[in-house]
Amino acid sequence: MDLKTTYLGLELKHPIVASASPLSRTLDGIRRMEDAGASAIVMFSLFEEQIRYENDSLDYLTEAGTETFAESLTYFPSVQDYRVGPDSYLELIRAASKACEVPIIASLNGVTSSGWIEYAREMIEAGAKAIELNIYYIPADLTITGREVEQRYIDVVKAVRSSIKAPISVKLSPFFSSMGEMATRLVAAGADGLVLFNRFYQPDFDLDELEVIPDMELSTANEIRLPLLWIAVLHGRLKASLAATRGVQNGTEVVKYLMAGADAVMTTSALLRNGVGHLSTLLEGTRIWMEKRGYSSVAQMKGSMSQSKVADPAAFERANYIKVLQSYKSPYIAAPQRPVDIDSFYQEAPLRR
Ligand SMILES: Cc1cc2nc3c(=O)[nH]c(=O)nc-3n(C[C@H](O)[C@H](O)[C@H](O)COP(=O)(O)O)c2cc1C
Repeated sequence: MDLKTTYLGLELKHPIVASASPLSRTLDGIRRMEDAGASAIVMFSLFEEQIRYENDSLDYLTEAGTETFAESLTYFPSVQDYRVGPDSYLELIRAASKACEVPIIASLNGVTSSGWIEYAREMIEAGAKAIELNIYYIPADLTITGREVEQRYIDVVKAVRSSIKAPISVKLSPFFSSMGEMATRLVAAGADGLVLFNRFYQPDFDLDELEVIPDMELSTANEIRLPLLWIAVLHGRLKASLAATRGVQNGTEVVKYLMAGADAVMTTSALLRNGVGHLSTLLEGTRIWMEKRGYSSVAQMKGSMSQSKVADPAAFERANYIKVLQSYKSPYIAAPQRPVDIDSFYQEAPLRR
């Protein structure tokens, strides 16, 4: 059975990739994921804030030294020595890319196109095979327009594109008015792949303490639906790879994402819940399904249930939404008296869609 896939121009032995998480915090963790069968490993993110904090602290320290007396400069470590956060990240990439055969993808997480982007080049020089740019932005400012938010994404991608030749993927949120156009613009700005989707941190309220609870829950399988929809819609229509990230618990979700058109399927929650050994369960589940259904390669499956390939492409659109609402049954609700015949509505005048 041929499980090979190409993601961001990288040949992977199969599509199951470990996504960014604390599991890659140490060389030992990274190695364990390779041993357990990950076909590529995305490292945890280096955050723009970490880099800027580091640089700001440095400026402060060196300036403070200059102001007092020259000798004090020698008390401070050199610039190179001092960048502990980013430097140890680069060091980890160096060690991991030497120790592992599978590609190591570095993750940069930020929202502006300022100096921190330089690190993309350093990450590639340290041995990363690609950069995953996580643009995690919550526009809580009520005056910022949708186009301005989109432009931020584009500016970050352009800035990184101009500093490296290596592949770049963009991990993004689903919250755009026109996801398809946004995806197209990101690719035009230089993205070689999209990672769908960021799972937003959404705090809860503790009603006893009346506090905001800053926690994070691991995903469940029903969370695949939003990425599944967009991968199915985008497959074959962009000159870019697509990776799915969200909700993979078993082989079933991997298969669904591949059928939608994903080139790579990423996983974190399932590994945090079950241990990295679960990677082999995901792969085995995928293989067993393929065998049962007579598929001999991942290439054959990829995108076979994308929007352009299914018998009813409208299943991904509004028409189906109305059908689903109308057909919902419960002993507590009466059947609709005059259901809309949605198929005839659109067949008579397809432009209504
Ligand atoms: C504890 C934890 C830490 C994470 N850290 C990062 C990170 O540093 N960078 C990033 O891009 N995504 C990070 N993620 C998101 C995952 O890479 C992944 O996209 C998300 O969990 C959805 O996939 P899943 O359903 O397989 O968990 C983290 C997720 C968890 C649960």
